[in-house]
Amino acid sequence: MQIAVVGTGYVGLVTGVCLSEIGHDVTCVDIDEKKVESMRQGLSPIYEPGLDELMKANIDRGRLHFTTNHKEAFAGAKAIYIAVGTPQREDGQADLRFVEQVAIDIANNIENDVVVVTKSTVPVGTNERVQSIVREHLKEDYKVHSVSNPEFLREGSAVKDTFEGDRIVIGSNNEEAAALLEEINRPFGIEIFKTDIRSAEMIKYASNAFLATKISFINEIANLCEKLEADVEDVAAGMGLDDRIGSKFLKAGIGYGGSCFPKDTSALVQIASYVQHDFNLLKSVIQVNGEQQRMLVTKAKQRFGTLEGKRVAMLGLAFKPNTDDMREAASITLAHELVKEGATVVAYDPIAADNAKKLLPSETLYVESPEEAITGADFAMIVTEWDQVKALTFNDYIEKMNEPIIFDGRNCYSLDQAAQYPVEYYSVGRKNIT
Ligand code: UGA
Repeated sequence: MQIAVVGTGYVGLVTGVCLSEIGHDVTCVDIDEKKVESMRQGLSPIYEPGLDELMKANIDRGRLHFTTNHKEAFAGAKAIYIAVGTPQREDGQADLRFVEQVAIDIANNIENDVVVVTKSTVPVGTNERVQSIVREHLKEDYKVHSVSNPEFLREGSAVKDTFEGDRIVIGSNNEEAAALLEEINRPFGIEIFKTDIRSAEMIKYASNAFLATKISFINEIANLCEKLEADVEDVAAGMGLDDRIGSKFLKAGIGYGGSCFPKDTSALVQIASYVQHDFNLLKSVIQVNGEQQRMLVTKAKQRFGTLEGKRVAMLGLAFKPNTDDMREAASITLAHELVKEGATVVAYDPIAADNAKKLLPSETLYVESPEEAITGADFAMIVTEWDQVKALTFNDYIEKMNEPIIFDGRNCYSLDQAAQYPVEYYSVGRKNIT
């Protein structure tokens, strides 16, 4: 089937490439000429394992095309996917300017009936609005229906998640449009859940808000464990054995970051406020996360009294491993707090350092290896659990640091191991080794 995808950011590109992989003829549109040119050569603008290979293979098969021209992309397309950004506005609301512009572009350029599929995360009611905008701007009487088809992809495993996802949600108020989406997605072999448009939009927000809640919940339990001398890793493992709870997303740490949880939780609080609903639970989840992101500095201040003049090795900067994404990463808050306290930050990240330079304080020093970062440091902070960081041994810390004092925000080492070395090891929700 012929499909067009508007927007070649992370969601759009992964969607387009994977739809071509299951046999559809996909044209991706983007306004950025340079980006389109390099994508035509099979070069992905984002770092996503497995994506480059699939991109090249499907360009070679003649099933994946890139253009800046809407008319060309929409010609003959039965479905047009909207996958443009919905950045967060100052007030926490999702900014829908780009989505609305695409709706107008669709109206101005289609030459047949289409189903408009929204992949971008949008507030409840947006798909109906998109449908109205397209219909209002249409010059000829084509049939246009909206379908909400939210994505549940994690950065760093987006390709895998597309082919091995738990469900595909199709929200539509029109049976024919829903049937078309089902036909497009059937080759994925994943359970399809059909519902109305508004419920589909809500499923996306509710899912991300629930996962964020799980993380803030286990982080609060971790903070309690520290005070009550229990071990959060064992507590989470014991809780997770109950199928009703599940073991996933119960890893205590320095809070959630990234482009999705922070943005979507704030947006849902806003959405709720428009219908005079005070979403207190979610507000607390957000507040707990903010405190958790600062936790390593709080602990360091408790340990040292003052951080003035301290040299700090910051190990990992990205909001999670296997991505160069720095959006809402805890490292940003931590580095600014450290510099404010008079410390020097020596930062290491295998791939996110370039992106970090725009967000971390200008005084930050960047190095090429975790070993270099800890050399001469007064204490180390583990912010992202990269393999390169986890490969450091306690002997490395002992040999290279001024004093082997480690604040581990990701519980990378076992306590038994730490106890065998003359190190100070502070982790999350576990006993301190001193
Ligand atoms: C998240 C969701 O997991 C996806 O299902 C969703 O599609 C996506 O948002 C989106 O809305 O587009 P992502 O932001 O890529 O995906 O990252 P996750 O792997 O979910 O991690 C988010 C943050 O939570 C990271 O900072 C991670 O370190 C943290 N986290 C995750 C924990 O602290 N503990 C956990 O147990 C799990």
